[in-house]
Amino acid sequence: MNAVPQSHADTSEQALKAWWMPFTHNRYFKAKPRLIDSGKGAYYQLADGRRVFDCLSGLWCSPIGHSHPRIVEAVKAQIDKLDFAPSFQMGHEPAFRLATRIAELAGRPNDHVFFTNSGSEAVDTALKIAIAYHRLRGDASRTRIIGRERGYHGVGMGGISVGGMVANRKMFAPLMLNGVDHLPHTWNPAHMAFSKGQPTWGAHFADELERIVALHDASTIAAVIVEPMQGSGGVLVPPVGYLERLREICTKHGILLIFDEVITGFGRLGKPFGADYFNVKPDMATFAKAVNNATIPLGGVLAADEIYQTFMTGPAHMIEFFHGYTYSAHPMAVAAAHATLDVLRDEKLIERAAELAPVLEKAVHSLKGEPHVTDIRNIGLAAAVELSPIAGQPGLRAIRVFEKALDEGYMVRFSADILAMAPPFVSTPAEIEGMIEGIRRALRAVPV
Ligand SMILES: Cc1ncc(COP(=O)(O)O)c(C=O)c1O
Repeated sequence: MNAVPQSHADTSEQALKAWWMPFTHNRYFKAKPRLIDSGKGAYYQLADGRRVFDCLSGLWCSPIGHSHPRIVEAVKAQIDKLDFAPSFQMGHEPAFRLATRIAELAGRPNDHVFFTNSGSEAVDTALKIAIAYHRLRGDASRTRIIGRERGYHGVGMGGISVGGMVANRKMFAPLMLNGVDHLPHTWNPAHMAFSKGQPTWGAHFADELERIVALHDASTIAAVIVEPMQGSGGVLVPPVGYLERLREICTKHGILLIFDEVITGFGRLGKPFGADYFNVKPDMATFAKAVNNATIPLGGVLAADEIYQTFMTGPAHMIEFFHGYTYSAHPMAVAAAHATLDVLRDEKLIERAAELAPVLEKAVHSLKGEPHVTDIRNIGLAAAVELSPIAGQPGLRAIRVFEKALDEGYMVRFSADILAMAPPFVSTPAEIEGMIEGIRRALRAVPV
């Protein structure tokens, strides 16, 4: 039988039984639970009393730190005024203003924003827009979508279909989209291990798109979707020239290019979007997470004006796009987003992320030569350390290092045998250097 936890620190087997946790080793976790009690700024307070540095900004999503007073104030004021408003056939002013602000921040003031509640929904929305767009233009055979190996685009059926992580896909093959193909990922340790920032080798991986086009014919392909920097796949940084070449090939063949900016959006690379950092303009960009510091679920798709206008046909009283979510542009989430954008602007935090990037790069690459480290990658305020797996037990090494780091006061993220770091933009250089030293001690403490 399940039981209600008796206190915030109740970690009894009964108390933890009911919640089937997402992307979690449930049995291992429940045997050795790790509960977060509160968060403030760049730190979490664990239920056992430990205060830990938040090395991944939550899940890449809280760059301005937890419980920022301006967000708290905005959300409190919003719930007093308007807790929920339908966005089907009605609207509320802050949502229109937020769409305008996001388009402006992206340097695309004529473009349009469709709101969702998560990155997964944003991805599925963008895929639907791509296919419908071609159909509306009389190109209904363009239905194929090209994703990329090791890509992560959330867990919707569209997202796992275009995603390239085998564990997320292998159980669900019968439900996945037909007509999907994948570009190869761009990581090649022989040519790029321990690269700082963008590897200089590997732009030619984009030419694989020409091969895919030759195989399927451009007339069947609606869109290519990639993360500008593959985040969940382990901070796989695009080689110099790679994204530019993808853009060229897409344009040449009339294929839409979608950047999944769920991680790179709102400053992670030290520019508002990955598109700005790499100076490559996609036709659509998905976002979520940092748009409102993850305070309340919110995501969306930024779509080029030409795409939006293509939908604006037929009688004006008819719905143009049969798609939407009950919580699209939820007033609470929108209020948190306005406050987040205010803080990013007023505290110059995107600029600060850019300033901290070299601090992280220098510190993280000092881990070269430490036990188990086989590669280190970084870009903007994000980095990953790849570890050699324990023979026959993939993933366990990173768990061990994660646990030691937590003992050191640093909550890193592990996925397979990769440690990922994306500290809050409000971090100090000393905190970032301290994080790397904590990881160094953890690496040394884990037996070979
Ligand atoms: C690039 C990318 N796309 C989509 C998603 C899915 O977002 P969500 O978990 O909000 O559905 C993620 C989540 O990490 C992501 O990194």
